[in-house]
Amino acid sequence: MESKRARLDRFISAKTGINKKHVRLILAKGQVLVDGEVARDIDQIIDEFSHVCFDGKVLQANAPSYVMLYKPVGVVSATVDDKHKTVIDLLERDDKQSLHIVGRLDLNTSGLLLLTNDGRWSKKLMSPDHKVGKVYRVTLKNPIDESYIAAFANGMYFEFEDITTLPATLEIVDDYTALVTLVEGRYHQIKRMFGRFRNPVIGLHRLSVGAIELDPQLAVGQSRDLLGTEIQIA
Ligand code: URA
Repeated sequence: MESKRARLDRFISAKTGINKKHVRLILAKGQVLVDGEVARDIDQIIDEFSHVCFDGKVLQANAPSYVMLYKPVGVVSATVDDKHKTVIDLLERDDKQSLHIVGRLDLNTSGLLLLTNDGRWSKKLMSPDHKVGKVYRVTLKNPIDESYIAAFANGMYFEFEDITTLPATLEIVDDYTALVTLVEGRYHQIKRMFGRFRNPVIGLHRLSVGAIELDPQLAVGQSRDLLGTEIQIA
């Protein structure tokens, strides 16, 4: 999801229908406020969260939203779906239609799902360059052993995409449970990685994304706004 950046004069012209020459005059006269400050520079770049006021009228006042949801199994990580309930259906907030999903989870995966309307924030979190770790608790059908650790750390070649997965950490919790940390999000990645061992995943739950942990106070299907500290540390 791209963030919407625009030059101030173009934005005002598009919003008001006033031609750009006249907009320059309006700016020169100090009739425009951006985030409460007089804006005179036509080259000023604004984004979708800049508060823009012209002649006492608000032209734009979008607020950024950052949400964590405890996604249940059986709910689809999409904004619309004709078969299943979507994660958006679970939210009770006026701005829910403006939100996009930051890193989908499969239908039968539960746990931490982030949603936002801030394209720059989500891009940073999801970019492979930032190597943000996502931690999953994985329950397996068959026992696991130490050989899995090196296989996950070395990466696995996926022929379909012609890529080798980035080093992943696997920690054995007990014979049938592991904690896996991925820094990317390939299609069904965890299931396919355990598939190499012919070991089906029977439970998958995301515990954290970067430093943001699923709030233990949230019941399945509940959501809350992220705290300022969580937004910063992500
Ligand atoms: N890996 C999977 O296979 N599924 C998910 O939902 C997340 C990671």
